[in-house]
This record gives sequence, C-alpha cells and structure tokens, in this order.
Amino acid sequence: MTSTATRPRGARARAAIAAKTLRTDRWWLAPLITVIGLSAWVAYATVRVFMHDFYWVEDYHYLTPFYSPCVTERCVEGASHFGRFLPGWWIIPDAALTLPFLLLFRLTCYYYRKAYYRSFWLSPPACAVPDGHKSYGGETRFPLLGQNLHRYFFYAAAIISLINTWDAVLAFHSPKGFGFGLGNIVLLVNVVMLWAYTISCHSCRHIIGGRLKHFSKHPVRYRAWTFVSALNVRHMQLAWITLGTLALTDFYVMAVAAGWFNDLRFIN
Ligand code: FES
Repeated sequence: MTSTATRPRGARARAAIAAKTLRTDRWWLAPLITVIGLSAWVAYATVRVFMHDFYWVEDYHYLTPFYSPCVTERCVEGASHFGRFLPGWWIIPDAALTLPFLLLFRLTCYYYRKAYYRSFWLSPPACAVPDGHKSYGGETRFPLLGQNLHRYFFYAAAIISLINTWDAVLAFHSPKGFGFGLGNIVLLVNVVMLWAYTISCHSCRHIIGGRLKHFSKHPVRYRAWTFVSALNVRHMQLAWITLGTLALTDFYVMAVAAGWFNDLRFIN
C-alpha cells in the first residue's frame, strides 16, 4: 500500500476503481433523511417566525421560544421582557435579538456541520463514497473559517437558554394567579432538552475540562466535565430532539393562542 508520505506528487488519493463506490448498502439513506428533516424544520420555523401572530397566550403567559424575547414594536407587553426597541417591520423577526445567535450556534455546531456537509454539500456524502466536489479546502478559508467562532455562539446560546428558562417560570400563571397546565409541561420539557443540548456542546466540554494538566487538582471541574462528557456522547440525538421539542412547543402555543384547542389545566 502507498502511504500518504510516499505517494507521488499529484497522484490520486483514492484507489483507482471504475465504480463510484464499492459500497452496496443504503449509504444514501442517512443523508437523505437529514436533508428532508432539516429542510422541513427550516420551512416550518421560517413560516412561524414571519407569521407575527399566535406566539403568546395571555391567560397563561405561554410564550413560544421562536418569539422570545419579543423586542419589536408590535409585541404584546407581557412577551417583551427586554423592551420593544426594534421597528415592527414584517421582515424583522420579533425575536431578532436572539434568533441570529441561535441560528449561528446550530450552524457552527460540530454535529450539524457533519450533517449538512454530508447531506447538502456531499462533501463527502458517506464514508468510502467520493466527494461531490473536485477540491477540498476544509475550514481554513472564509466563510467556513467562521466555524471557529462556535465557542462564542455557545456563550450566547447559554444566555438564551436562561431567557427560555425564565419564560417557563413566568408561565406558571393564570388569571387567578398561580396556574399549571399541560403547556407548562411542554415548556419545561423543551427547556430541559435545550439545556441538555447546550451543555453537551463540544465547546462547553472543552471550556469546563480543557487545558487542565491534572484532573486530580480540579475535582469540581473534573466532575462537571464527566457530566458534560456523558451528555456529549448523545449530542447528535439531543440536536434532533431539541429541533422536535422546539417545533412542538411552538405548535402547542400557536394552537392554544389561535383557539384550535384549550390548554389542559391541572391547577387554575
Ligand atoms: S458542538 Fe454542537 S452545539 Fe457545540
């Protein structure tokens, strides 16, 4: 076998076989499912973000995460914890303060990078299947160089998870004061999953346990790193689960706000 070091300059790195790939399994299924899943989610989220309606349930203070915090002039008062300082133009999302950072957090996520590089860019679509492009530049040039900013988007996402948590706390409300309904469970499950996804981030794992020479001298960080590492193993699953819980939470709030069905109330 010719190693990379001894391979003649300009020689093909891939074995010279006539077939595009020797794989006979359904290697194309995973990229296909990814394309369908991500496209469907982006289409739903885009429609909802620019709908500018059915994002708030006044009686129970349910706010969909797609509109949190609501910062445009058209936002209702209860949903705007940070003021209404942006114009209410149709093109501006009501959560314009947070959505760009959440988008960048997910776009630069190590798992999503793998997912969309393989499924949308075919670079490569699967192991032992040729790249869909003639050359490979990696992430060393603009714009992919920006993927290295992921750590900073992680900080922003952690702050946004705090805001979502506060929304879930404020939602224990009814016209009589305290209230508890199925919507609270939906919001809480979403927040717990969002935290699990956020702290299972590879950057978070490095921030907590990286650059240490001796774990024994940092027992607290070691414990935190162990916990984050256990979640990190499930990062891909959490990435998909949170897409599901986000869409489900938004749909539930929209349905109750639009009067399609009533919230199931346990207390008040
Ligand atoms: S690696 Fe996926 S969120 Fe950081």
